[in-house]
Amino acid sequence: MGKIFAAITGVGGYVPEDILTNADLEKLVDTTDEWITTRTGIKERHILRTPGKATSDMAVEVVKQLLYKTNTKPEEIELLICATVTPDMSFPDTANTILDKVGAKNAFGFDINAACSGFLYALTTGSKFIESGMYKKVIVIGADMMSSIVDYSDRTTCIIFGDGAGGVMLEPTNDGTGVIDSVLRSDGSGREYLHMKAGGSLKPATVETVANKEHFVFQDGKPVFKAAVNGMVNTVKQVLERNHLNMEEIDWLVPHQANMRIINSVGDMLDFPKEKVMVNIHKYGNTTAGTLPLCLWEYESKLKKGDKLMLTAFGGGFTWGSTYLIWHY
Ligand code: UT7
Repeated sequence: MGKIFAAITGVGGYVPEDILTNADLEKLVDTTDEWITTRTGIKERHILRTPGKATSDMAVEVVKQLLYKTNTKPEEIELLICATVTPDMSFPDTANTILDKVGAKNAFGFDINAACSGFLYALTTGSKFIESGMYKKVIVIGADMMSSIVDYSDRTTCIIFGDGAGGVMLEPTNDGTGVIDSVLRSDGSGREYLHMKAGGSLKPATVETVANKEHFVFQDGKPVFKAAVNGMVNTVKQVLERNHLNMEEIDWLVPHQANMRIINSVGDMLDFPKEKVMVNIHKYGNTTAGTLPLCLWEYESKLKKGDKLMLTAFGGGFTWGSTYLIWHY
């Protein structure tokens, strides 16, 4: 009997109905469709505008799809990990809210805050609970309502981000498929370039922090761009080496969707064909923890059992990493 791996047995995705186009943004800030398209590749993003709805509500739609697709009852879920930087509340964890909303009475859950690398951190963590034999039904979600922390008067950030959620069901398998290996990294010195200035214990919310717009995403784009390309390429290479693979053996590259120029640079540096790179940034923008599972969800029909996938991401923290997995179905 082969080693037990965590196989992805279902994938789900959700984006809100409302669309914010580049033309809409031209009316909000000093920008153009041409600038946004050529500098980022983004044409539109989805925004959650329903009053009273938040990150957990998008994740709930994903969990419902996962339960349906994998023929699972809510009470069979044992663990749910939610990667997000936009939790419904500072506490409790959004994972707990999701579990409550779907009626998962026998599970526990927790959030992982690793920004755009959150899904990879959560996928790797969830896989370990399966590989150890501890659990048989683990859900991993990446969900972010970036519109709740984006300043729509800041043209350098508001053009990038969108709202969305995706996720996977993990179950044990011994047929050689599943999540095989990850290289995950972080470098806290990178927080200087990508962070939210207030709202944490360092600088709790005050009238001044609100007036100074310190509860929004701050990003110094250029250093993040450079670190993102290097971080993703280097960890992909490390995962390849550790698993005695080369890029020709990889069927799909699944990169974080932050900027089309970053995606192209990573693909070029790995000498990887463009048609095998999953891309949906033009439709959704950067949904932070949502980008990777939303890619898997959209490309699901093209995937077949045994396909070799390399997932890679980079985000605030800095956090980054790459995960190698073999598709199960
Ligand atoms: O997902 C988490 C990790 N995040 C990332 O990976 C994002 C990484 N960074 C990026 O994707 C890019 O740096 C940005 C898209 C954020 C910015 O693109 P850039 O090519 O690095 O532009 P820049 O910041 O160097 O700005 C170039 C020019 C500036 O004008 P000047 O100083 O040359 O006159 C900006 O003020 O473009 C200007 N600019 C804009 N112009 C029109 C900045 N934003 C805009 C805009 N519309 N929206």
